Formats: sequence, C-alpha cells, structure tokens
Amino acid sequence: MALKVVVLGGTKGIGRALARQLAARGDQVHLLGRDAEELAKCAADLQARRPSPAPVGFTSCDLERPEGFAPALAAADAALGGFDTVVVTAGLFATQARLQSDREFTRRLLTVNFAHTVVFCEEVREYLLARGGGTLCVVSSVAGERGRKPVVLYGASKAGLSAYLEGLDHAFRGAGLRTICVKPGFVRTSMTDGLPEPPFAAEPEQVATTVVRAIDRGTPVVYAPPIWALVMMVIRLLPRAVMRRIGF
Ligand SMILES: NC(=O)c1ccc[n+]([C@@H]2O[C@H](COP(=O)([O-])OP(=O)(O)OC[C@H]3O[C@@H](n4cnc5c(N)ncnc54)[C@H](OP(=O)(O)O)[C@@H]3O)[C@@H](O)[C@H]2O)c1
Repeated sequence: MALKVVVLGGTKGIGRALARQLAARGDQVHLLGRDAEELAKCAADLQARRPSPAPVGFTSCDLERPEGFAPALAAADAALGGFDTVVVTAGLFATQARLQSDREFTRRLLTVNFAHTVVFCEEVREYLLARGGGTLCVVSSVAGERGRKPVVLYGASKAGLSAYLEGLDHAFRGAGLRTICVKPGFVRTSMTDGLPEPPFAAEPEQVATTVVRAIDRGTPVVYAPPIWALVMMVIRLLPRAVMRRIGF
C-alpha cells in the first residue's frame, strides 16, 4: 500500500533524493521546509515524477521556529488526509574550525540538529501514536558514534539525536511507533561541497535507496551506504588512547 509521507528537508541532498524515490513509486509526499520558493519547485518536480497525476503539497516549517511545528503537521495532515510516515533529513553542518570561532552558529547548529529536531519528533510521536502508530525516520550521522577531533560540536549534536532516537524506539515500538535512525557516512551534497572526500563517499541517491528499504522494513538503525556498519563496528572498539595517538 502506498505510504503517506511528510518529509522535512526535501529541498536538497539526501531528503530530495529520498522524496523523489518515494514519489516515483507512488507514495504520497508532503514537503515541509523553510524556503517557500524552493518548496514549490521541489513539489512540482515530485508531481512530475509520480506514476499517476496527483498534487504534491508543501508547508513552511523552519527547525529554528518550534512554534510552527504543530501547525505545519496539521497542514500536512489536512493535505494528505492523514499521514503514516515522517522523514526528517533537515540539518545544519559546519566545519569544526568555523564552529570553534562562531559561537552563534554553534548555538544554532546544536539547536536545529538536536533540541528542535527532538521537539519536532515529539510532536510527530504524539500524532502517530494517537492514530495507532506509524514510522518516524530521522537522519543522524556516523559522526555521532564517537567524540572525534574533526567534528567535536557537529558530532555531539548527532550523538544526542541518535541517543534520543534509540530511546524512542525502545519506548514506543511496542505501541506501533517504528523509529528509524539513519547514520550516513560522507555524502556528496551541498552540505559537504568543497570538503575533502574520505573513503566510501556516496551519492545521495544511494543513501536514499538504503533509507527507503529501511522504511519498508522498519529497521531501527541503518548505516548508509551499508559499508559504514562495518567501519563503525571497528571505530566503536578503538581505545581512546589509540584514537588520541593517531589523531583520529
Ligand atoms: N552530507 C553528508 O555527508 C552527511 C553525512 C551524515 C549525515 N548527514 C545528515 O543528513 C541530513 C541531510 O544532509 P544533506 O547532506 O542532504 O544536506 P543538505 O543538502 O545541506 O540539505 C539540508 C536540508 O536541510 C534543510 N534545512 C536546513 N536548516 C533548516 C531549518 N532551519 N529548517 C528546515 N529545514 C532546514 C535544508 O533546507 P533549505 O533548502 O532551506 O536550505 C535542506 O533541505 C542532515 O541531517 C545531515 O546532518 C549528512
């Protein structure tokens, strides 16, 4: 059966690739985001990709403005006639060097990636549980698995988010809420434009394919591309002293 999916962050990168794959297989998608012009363009693009003609709606929702979360979800509910799946790919990134020297952007990044994403998810939790359950799929990062020199602050925001998502899954899967935490490695998007590429760099479309499969199966934690599951198994076992010695 086709899903009714709300996507926060579908205007770029991983979220856009994911929304395209969902629309192309016939799922109904409603976009949430902060830039109305971009949202309108992306909604028209999704409409054209659908196997059968149907309008794709969009609503303004800025992760820096939590007062807009409930109204945005209510608008998505009205447009879709209820929804069963919510995907959050929206997030901020900056290099450690920039964050270390820009306290205001650090505050914004920590707020958007952790505090307000959690508040948004809490709104979704209440909505889905009131309707017997559904799927909440949120993009965190492999950067949240260990504290590391190059991503001290960004990694901390994702570590908090991953911990929240794991707790949510333990607490509410029995009641029908399937929580999916996506942990991508390096993905070629506007977020990573100009950064040196580490091994296993991926395209957003590859990540999207892995995420769509995880949504269908309800997989609680998914590394994307899947090779990162192996890499992180090793990195999780590295003693702190070794990490310090090799400057990792
Ligand atoms: N790229 C990577 O290597 C990588 C690796 C691991 C994890 N991730 C995570 O994957 C997710 C998607 O990243 P990406 O690479 O696809 O990034 P991206 O291309 O920069 O896209 C980020 C998306 O977030 C939206 N966004 C940013 N701030 C927002 C706000 N305040 N309110 C609402 N929407 C907002 C952007 O909307 P606008 O169009 O309005 O800018 C855009 O749609 C992020 O959570 C990121 O941390 C990325």
